[in-house]
Amino acid sequence: MQSKTPPKRLIVAITGASGVIYGVRFLEVCRELKIETDLVVSKTAESLLDIELAKTRAELEKLAYSSYPPDDFQAPIASGSQARDAMVVIPCSMGTLAKIANGIADNLIVRAADVCLKQRKPLVLVIRETPLNLIHVINMERLIRAGAVIVPASPAFYHKPKQIRDLIDFVVGRVLDVLGVKHSLYSKWKE
Ligand SMILES: Cc1cc2nc3c(=O)[nH]c(=O)nc-3n(C[C@H](O)[C@H](O)[C@H](O)COP(=O)(O)O)c2cc1C
Repeated sequence: MQSKTPPKRLIVAITGASGVIYGVRFLEVCRELKIETDLVVSKTAESLLDIELAKTRAELEKLAYSSYPPDDFQAPIASGSQARDAMVVIPCSMGTLAKIANGIADNLIVRAADVCLKQRKPLVLVIRETPLNLIHVINMERLIRAGAVIVPASPAFYHKPKQIRDLIDFVVGRVLDVLGVKHSLYSKWKE
């Protein structure tokens, strides 16, 4: 589902897949582009922030407009009446993907994604897992049928990346492309 008008306010969830740097960079770019973000970080993502980046949830929350703990079902984003323009789960673990695909809304991230799907708002899931098993693929099919967009965290190389930042920016740029947000994070093919 492609949003016609670029979002002004987004839900951003960071879950416990490797590559939490994608989520951090996405929050930085949203801030630069003046897109307001409501942030939820899962418990496992908090460990990965420490393992991969030596960062804390509190540090990350400074990049967001507002933030909520993953067990806060009273947060505004848990309700369809407070729906935001879109939601991005970056990175999205196979565990969270499975819960969203099967409507198991037992934390705020899955509940907010559930709300996005029922309100027909764009939901972008930046997955990071390899190899994939059949259950992963079936769950992705269910989500695509329900209107979600799956963006695998698999950077291209035609833009001639020179550093890790260029690879991260390619994936973040692809998410912004899906949301209809203009950016200059990577040079498009033949540009
Ligand atoms: C170091 C580490 C790396 C992980 N990497 C991945 C990954 O790349 N993809 C994935 O789907 N799960 C990964 N997992 C497993 C998830 O963290 C686990 O399934 C967790 O229950 C996901 O919970 P969450 O979605 O609520 O964050 C990893 C776990 C650890 C500890």
